[in-house]
Amino acid sequence: MTSEATLSLSPAAYAQAVADAAQAAKAYYTDGATALDDDEYDALVRAIAAFEAAHPEAVLPLSPTGRVAGGTVSGDVPHSVPMLSLDNVFSPEELAAWVASLERRLGRPVAGGWSVEPKLDGLAVAAHYRGGHLVQLVTRGDGLAGEDITHAAGSVLGLPALLGEPIDIELRGEVLLTDEQFERANATRAEHGATPFANPRNGAAGTLRAKDRPYRVELSFFGYAAPGLAGPHHEVIARIAELGAATAAVRHCAGVEEVQQRIAEIAAARPELPYGIDGIVVKADAAADQEAAGSGSRAPRWAVAYKLPAAHRITRLLAVEWNVGRTGVIAPRAVLEPVVVDGATVRYATLHNPADIARRGLMLGDQVSLYRAGDVIPRVEAPLVHLRTGEEQPIEFPAVCPCCGDAVDTTQQRWRCVRGRSCQAVASVRYAVGRDQLDIAGLGGTRAVQLVEAGLVADFADLFTLTREQLLSLDRMGEVSADNLLVAIEQARRQPLGKVFCALGVRGTGRSMSRRIARHFGTMAAIRAADAEQYAQVAGIGAEKAALVVEELTELSEVLDKLAAAGVTGGAAPEVAVVEQPGPLAGQAVVVTGTMTGALAQLSRTAVNELVERAGGTASSSVSARTAMLVAGEKAGSKRAKAEQLGIQVLTPEEFAALVGEFLA
Ligand code: IVH
Repeated sequence: MTSEATLSLSPAAYAQAVADAAQAAKAYYTDGATALDDDEYDALVRAIAAFEAAHPEAVLPLSPTGRVAGGTVSGDVPHSVPMLSLDNVFSPEELAAWVASLERRLGRPVAGGWSVEPKLDGLAVAAHYRGGHLVQLVTRGDGLAGEDITHAAGSVLGLPALLGEPIDIELRGEVLLTDEQFERANATRAEHGATPFANPRNGAAGTLRAKDRPYRVELSFFGYAAPGLAGPHHEVIARIAELGAATAAVRHCAGVEEVQQRIAEIAAARPELPYGIDGIVVKADAAADQEAAGSGSRAPRWAVAYKLPAAHRITRLLAVEWNVGRTGVIAPRAVLEPVVVDGATVRYATLHNPADIARRGLMLGDQVSLYRAGDVIPRVEAPLVHLRTGEEQPIEFPAVCPCCGDAVDTTQQRWRCVRGRSCQAVASVRYAVGRDQLDIAGLGGTRAVQLVEAGLVADFADLFTLTREQLLSLDRMGEVSADNLLVAIEQARRQPLGKVFCALGVRGTGRSMSRRIARHFGTMAAIRAADAEQYAQVAGIGAEKAALVVEELTELSEVLDKLAAAGVTGGAAPEVAVVEQPGPLAGQAVVVTGTMTGALAQLSRTAVNELVERAGGTASSSVSARTAMLVAGEKAGSKRAKAEQLGIQVLTPEEFAALVGEFLA
């Protein structure tokens, strides 16, 4: 195909070209048989791109160019029904206990047996089909609303552009990189001078959201639900497969014994599976059982994840790097001899903070045990002291800020440059203009450095008062770029509250927490006026984080004043309206005492108290007439006696865990 031909594509030819490209890409990644060679494929994509440049309003979701239809700003797409998470169990005994508690709730044994399937370690997505056509792909987001990632649909194997039947349906499932796709993606990235993905999960997340990569990364989808389909789970899955989408491998089991057996089989097969799994999902199969069990706000009561033990590996600690984050926190990072853990090559691991290093007595050159579970950041667990050779060297802690040379504030566990955010003004600005925050294109790269170095911008609020003349004074800034930038900044003024809040980069809050805070308080003025107690009422914020947020907002008051003066208040666009669910302990004072067992056994007392607070209660240490509930573990002693005397409800750790299980981190 020549470039002349490409420019004259009719809308129908364009649609055909998109379909051909999707078909060719799919064939290439499945059996390798494709009618197009690489050059022909590239020419086809160029033709498609040329048509799209002329008709941006007509871009099809499956276009291989990865443009968003009409250039719409990606925003919150509410889910038809919440995309829930899963509760966890960690042993056959815990699974048996979970089954027993489910059947207690039902008042009978499950009627339809169980479905058992691998828990795929990727990202949950919802794929919407209309008339059999894939029309929208959405991330899980915070479970209530996600991000439109339709632009990525064409790169996902297992999610056909067209189903076998012209029906309206929503498919849910996990998108991931298989081990093979992961290897291939990293080879491609290396060719393009991009840093390799740290692990398949990271790669899948980055790829789903990326829009302007000069290369393609193929992903895989495996369906595990279809909210609109009724019937036993294993039949729903069979139906999804019948329609032409890939599905998780579901096995129907009649009884718990069979379930345990199947779990053991999947666990044993884990190393040979072509993708990473972090557990096994057990679901009550019958629709009637699922309905009767119902769902909490975080997870269904009819399904549970049997988590597999995290993967451990031994490797050597080569060095410790001290990186200054965008808020000025100086964080140590372990540089490791590369090692493959659960399918991913690990080169770095988090070391948390200096106290943590000291506590574990780590030395450079130590053999260390490394842990990587389903979580994306591997952790150095412990030095293997018996393997020391005597060559190990102490780890040096920074005496001054490794970035600016100013003093280090060591009063908190996490060390921080005394300049705080100003030490990393460029990073703070870059973060603020990122896609999930203000989404100002053109400021991510060296422009941010220029603006800060020229003294035009000390923080991102200054962006809103930049003048055209100031921009034009910058090196290599032409009139067109300056005007584009001003337009982008102008658009950012109208970002919703959650994104403006996220742009502040408040420690302890990310995207979804920012959204939650925005929904909870409604306006920037209310956010600023709230005290720690009010923050602690936001789902997911415990006492400790509430105090940190308030402290951070005080530190950011100058930025907030500037934003207010510039009219950037996050008020213009409505947030998705969501009613916060009150936790099961709403308004109740809870005392925890004794040794915790069951699901709470691993938690520190602080962690249990935080759990109380996440579930809406207040944690207190002494029993009084105001106490609503006592959680009494083994050796509870006098508090238990007092509670019984006062007629206060006493729960075992197991009963309490069942009550607040959905808030377990
Ligand atoms: S069912 C209402 N099945 O695990 C049921 N989830 O930790 C919700 N996941 O958010 C999920 N494989 O992203 C289900 N076979 C599977 C799964 C699976 C992976 C993910 C899913 C979910 C997360 C919860």
